[in-house]
Amino acid sequence: MASMASRAAAVTITNAALDKPSHGSSGNLSQRSFVGLRAGLVLGQKKENLSLSFKVEPTSRISMAVAVDVSKFESVTMAPPDPILGVSEAFKADSSPLKLNLGVGAYRTEELQPYVLDVVKKAEKLMLESGEFKEYLPIEGLAAFNKATAELLLGADNPVIKQGRIATVQGLSGTGSLRLGAAFIQRYLPGVKVLISSPTWGNHKNILNDSGVPWSEYRYFDPTTVGLDFSGMIEDIKNATDGSIILLHGCAHNPTGIDPTAEQWGTIADVIEEKSHLPFFDVAYQGFASGSLDNDASSVRQFVARGLELFVAQSYSKNLGLYAERIGAINAVVSSSDVANRF
Ligand SMILES: Cc1ncc(COP(=O)(O)O)c(C=O)c1O
Repeated sequence: MASMASRAAAVTITNAALDKPSHGSSGNLSQRSFVGLRAGLVLGQKKENLSLSFKVEPTSRISMAVAVDVSKFESVTMAPPDPILGVSEAFKADSSPLKLNLGVGAYRTEELQPYVLDVVKKAEKLMLESGEFKEYLPIEGLAAFNKATAELLLGADNPVIKQGRIATVQGLSGTGSLRLGAAFIQRYLPGVKVLISSPTWGNHKNILNDSGVPWSEYRYFDPTTVGLDFSGMIEDIKNATDGSIILLHGCAHNPTGIDPTAEQWGTIADVIEEKSHLPFFDVAYQGFASGSLDNDASSVRQFVARGLELFVAQSYSKNLGLYAERIGAINAVVSSSDVANRF
C-alpha cells in the first residue's frame, strides 16, 4: 500500500518557471497554448519519467494533480496490532529457556508445537481414505458436521433437535460464527443492543462494531471478591431495554474463568425471560471448564429446556486443538421448525 500511495504527485508550475528564457519575446510561451513537460517522479522504489501535456494560460498559476494509479483505498488506516498476537511475537523474541507463552490459549507439546489429539489424527485418516473432504459444501456447510455439532451442544436426544427447532450453519470457527450471528442481528434485528460482560473476550467488541451492532456492558467481574458480581450482572440485565440481546459465555468465561453456578444460571434465565431478552451464548471452551462436554453445555441446555429462543456460537479451536482449521458453527434455537427452516 505504501508504494501505491507514493504513485501520486502534485505538479505546480508557474508561468515564471516556464517562461525562460524570454529573449524579450515572452509571447513565445504565453502564445503557446500547450506545453510539454517532462517530470521525473519516484514511484515506489522506481524512478519513472512521465510526459505531461497541459494548457497554459498567460498569467495564471497552474496547479494539477498527476494521478498515477492512485489507490482508491487511501483512507484505509492500519488496524491496531492484536494484543494477544503481540504477546506471541514477544515470546518468539525472548531467548529465556524458562519462557512460557500464556497469551494464546492452546495445547502445546514439549516442543511447543500444537498438540494433535489422537482422535483428530484418526478422523483425518478416515477423511483422507474416504476422499470426500475436498468437495464443495453447501452454503450452510457440511450437513454431517452441523448435525453433530448441534447434538454435542444440546445432547443428541434433545427434543429441540427432534422437533427440528434448531438451525445450524457452519462458520469460520468461533470468531466467524459470532460474526455471522452479528450480521444476522444487524439485518433482522436492526438497532437491538447486545449486552456483553465486563470484561469479555476482546473480539466481541470488534465483531459487534464491524457488524454495526450497538452494544453496552453488564457487570460481571468483582475485583474485591475476585469472583462474579452476580447482583450487578442481574441488575444490568434487568435494566436493559426489553428485547435486548445478552451475550453469555457458555462456560469457562474468558478472560475471568469465572462461571455462574447452575442456580445462578437459573436466575439469569428468569430475568432474560421476564425481559423478553434474547440470549446469545458463546461456547468456545466446551469441555474445558469441568472436563465434561455435557456439564459444560448445561447452561445452554437449561435455557433451551425453558423453551427460550437463543443463538449459540461454537468453536472447536480449543477443545479439539483445531486452531488452524477454523471449525465452528452458529446455531439458532427457535420456536418452530418452520422458522428454523428459513434460517
Ligand atoms: C470467548 C471466546 N469466544 C470466541 C473465541 C474465538 O474462537 P476461535 O479462535 O475459534 O475463532 C475465543 C477464542 O479465544 C474466545 O475466547
